[in-house]
Amino acid sequence: MSSVIATTAVRGRFLDIQNTVAQAREIHDQVRYVEDGLLLSENGIIQWFGPWDEGQRLIPEQVQVQHYPDQLIVPGFIDTHIHFPQTEMIGAYGEQLLEWLNTYTFPTEMQFSDPAYAQKIAAFFVQELLKNGTTTALVFCTVHPQSVDALFAAAEQHQMRLIAGKVMMDRHAPDALCDTADGAYSDSKALIEKWHGKGRNLYAITPRFAPTSTPEQLARAGELKAEYPDVYVHTHLSENKNEIAWVKELYPEQNGYLDVYRHYGLTGSRSVFAHCVHLEEHEWDCMHQTDSAIAFCPTSNLFLGSGLFPLKKTWDKQVKVGLGTDIGAGTSFNQLQTIQEAYKVQQLQGCKLSAFEALYHATLGGAKALDLADKLGNFNLGKEADFVVLDLQPTALQQLRQSRAKGLEDSVFALMMMGDDRNIHATYIYGQRAYLKTATA
Ligand code: GUN
Ligand code: ZN
Repeated sequence: MSSVIATTAVRGRFLDIQNTVAQAREIHDQVRYVEDGLLLSENGIIQWFGPWDEGQRLIPEQVQVQHYPDQLIVPGFIDTHIHFPQTEMIGAYGEQLLEWLNTYTFPTEMQFSDPAYAQKIAAFFVQELLKNGTTTALVFCTVHPQSVDALFAAAEQHQMRLIAGKVMMDRHAPDALCDTADGAYSDSKALIEKWHGKGRNLYAITPRFAPTSTPEQLARAGELKAEYPDVYVHTHLSENKNEIAWVKELYPEQNGYLDVYRHYGLTGSRSVFAHCVHLEEHEWDCMHQTDSAIAFCPTSNLFLGSGLFPLKKTWDKQVKVGLGTDIGAGTSFNQLQTIQEAYKVQQLQGCKLSAFEALYHATLGGAKALDLADKLGNFNLGKEADFVVLDLQPTALQQLRQSRAKGLEDSVFALMMMGDDRNIHATYIYGQRAYLKTATA
């Protein structure tokens, strides 16, 4: 039996971060910029990357080179926290977290009991990720297993590496959205068996947050994690002050919010906690000791008035962090817009977020937070060929600003501060172009 090898050859200006780092100041030394570069991939995997002059002789005769002379090519963006069922409710007015959930979120999520509805929104959602240059995401579905089926099926159509899971929630939510401790366990287990490791799909055990799970349900979630150690855990932590006070009332025997998750075996190197805006000192230590990761979601934290995330602390405490859009509390699918708000959140705390540090968090740092830095995040040989072709000047204003850029870092910073989905020229998944901007995109 002969197998067909799909080879892709892409030429252009490439920018990535070569290695993971322990401190922000080390990032600068890891920046790799190839002015006229070539990336060759075979069956989705990077086979060669480097200067065009050196690599062009390796291109098989029948392969056509896709040349982007005017763009900038970076690794695909990684979104470490997003809710696909909340796509339609972005920009819901006036409430902070707990009221926002009851007023807008739960009614929206109820619609996902209908598989046809879930499929329709899942297809829209995946398209929106591609349109924004996001090639991997860690995604909340709803309590309904059919919402997970819909999302993984949509991701599979593009061979996209996605991590997702069914929400576990057995109290403090409408009956129609509640499962039970045992039901959540058995439904999640069936979904793990069905989807985890199938193609590029990976599963995340997804208790919504401590207030909507009984201790029995969190215990079942922990059992599941012990049975399947390489699946993820994905939940929310320390987002809002009223939420934190509520968790302390509900779980008085634990030493704070994070300790609830730790107690039930839900911390670890494949555990991702969204927000962590108000962690206490001992919780930062616990995040480090358990090798757990944070999803920093600036547009959401500002939109819901949750607070200012101290990004610098992740370096001080050696805690893994990625960027999350947190749609639909977040206000944009776009990682450039997410970086804009991340920058401002740091400014308000007297800290600087450089362009290259932001690029790191959006790509290789995000991959590390998802324990996928061996597969994603840069152009190293053997990694999966997910990348984005960026247009630096899709508007007259950006054209003017770019014409005044003082070198690469300033150019990338201006792109980040002014960019949005108009800057996404093309998105490649597993070596194939999955999105190309058109006039009407
Ligand atoms: N905490 C519990 N559920 C949610 C949610 O859907 N969005 C956000 N931002 N925080 C949460
Ligand atoms: Zn969220």
